[in-house]
Amino acid sequence: MGITPVLRVNPDDFAQEEIAPAGRILREGGLVVFPTETVYGLGANALDETAARAIYTAKGRPSDNPLIVHLPDLSRLDMLCRDIPKQALSLFSAFSPGPLTVILKKQPQVPDVVSGGLDTVAVRIPSHPVAAALLREAAVPVAAPSANRSGRPSPTRLAHVLEDLDGRVDLMIDGGECGVGLESTVVSLAGDIPVLLRPGGISLEMLRSVLGEVRVDDAVSHRLAEGQRPMAPGMKYRHYAPAAPLTLAQGTPADVTAWLVAHSKEPGAGILCFDEQRGLFPDAAHVESLGPQADDAAHAHALFDALRSFDAAGVRAIYGALPGEQGISLAVRNRLLKAAGHHVVHL
Ligand code: TXA
Ligand code: MG
Repeated sequence: MGITPVLRVNPDDFAQEEIAPAGRILREGGLVVFPTETVYGLGANALDETAARAIYTAKGRPSDNPLIVHLPDLSRLDMLCRDIPKQALSLFSAFSPGPLTVILKKQPQVPDVVSGGLDTVAVRIPSHPVAAALLREAAVPVAAPSANRSGRPSPTRLAHVLEDLDGRVDLMIDGGECGVGLESTVVSLAGDIPVLLRPGGISLEMLRSVLGEVRVDDAVSHRLAEGQRPMAPGMKYRHYAPAAPLTLAQGTPADVTAWLVAHSKEPGAGILCFDEQRGLFPDAAHVESLGPQADDAAHAHALFDALRSFDAAGVRAIYGALPGEQGISLAVRNRLLKAAGHHVVHL
C-alpha cells in the first residue's frame, strides 16, 4: 500500500467531476501526478513559484532544467508567450492536442523557476482525455515534468510512479498505461530556424512537412563535448539510465543477432531484443522484447518499462541493437543512446 492517495480514472469512461478534487489541489498549490499520452507527469500550478519549486524537490531535479507548461488548448497561449510566430500556430494546429512541445519566448509572468532562468518557455497541449480534463478543471497552466525521480526512466504506468514518488506528492491519478511511451517531441521556435531539441512521437519528417527546414540539435544523436551546452538543458543529463551498463550494437541484422547471442552467455547478461529473437537467448539472465521488429511504435511504447525490468531483475550488463533514424525510431535511438552513455559497438 502506498502513502499518497491514488484516484483511479477510466480514460475511456469518466465524468468531469471525478477530476474536480485533483484540479482543486493544483489550483491551491499542491502536486498532482497525472497520465498523458506520452508518459506520466508531475504537475503544479506554473504561475505559483512555490508550487513549481516543490516539483524540483519531489523529483530531486537540478533547478536549471526548465519545465514544460501544459494547457488545455491555445486560448491562453499569449498569457505565457510573446512574439508568437505564425509557424507556432501551424504546428499546434497540425499536431496538437498531441505529443508535441513548442519552445517560445516567454512572458514576464512565467516564473524563472519554471523556465530555468531562460527567456523562453516550453508549451504543450496533451491529448490524453484525463490530462485534458484535469487542465480544464485546474484552470491554471500546469508545469509538469515526467513523474520519475531524476535520472530514472520516465514512468509509463502508475506502478513506475509509485516506485519513484510515493509519499512525495499530494495525489496520483491512475489512468492506465500511456500510449506513446516516450516523452513529447520538443521543438524550439524561439530562434530564426526551428530546431528539434528532443525527438518523440511527432517525427522529424512530420515537423518538416509543416515547417520546411528544421535543424536537429547536436544533443539528439551525439555525446556532447566537455562544456558544450545543449539547447534543452535536460538533454545534458544521463537520463533513462538502468543500473547495469548498456551497450548497443550497430551492424547488419544478422551480425547484431550473433553479437547478442554471444553476449547472452555471459553471467548476468540482460538482452534487449525483438519478438522474433526471443527464443535465441536461453542462457541470458533476463530477456526483454520491444515487440515485433518492424513495429517502431511498439518499441517506443515498451522501452522504459523494459529498462526498469532490467533493474528489477538485477542484471550485470545489458546488450541491445542501435535503432535507426526514421520516424519514431529516432526517439527510441535517442533514449537508448542516453541510457547507454553513447556506448555503441560498430560490428
Ligand atoms: O511528454 C512530455 O513532454 C512529458 C509529459 C509529462 O508532458 N514531460 C516531460 O518533461 O518530458 P521533462 O521535464 O521530463 O522534459 C522537458 C524537457 C527537458 O529536456 C527540458 O530541458 C526541455 O524540455 N525544456 C523545457 N523548457 C525548455 C526551454 N525553455 N528551452 C529549452 N528546453 C526546454
Ligand atoms: Mg523527464
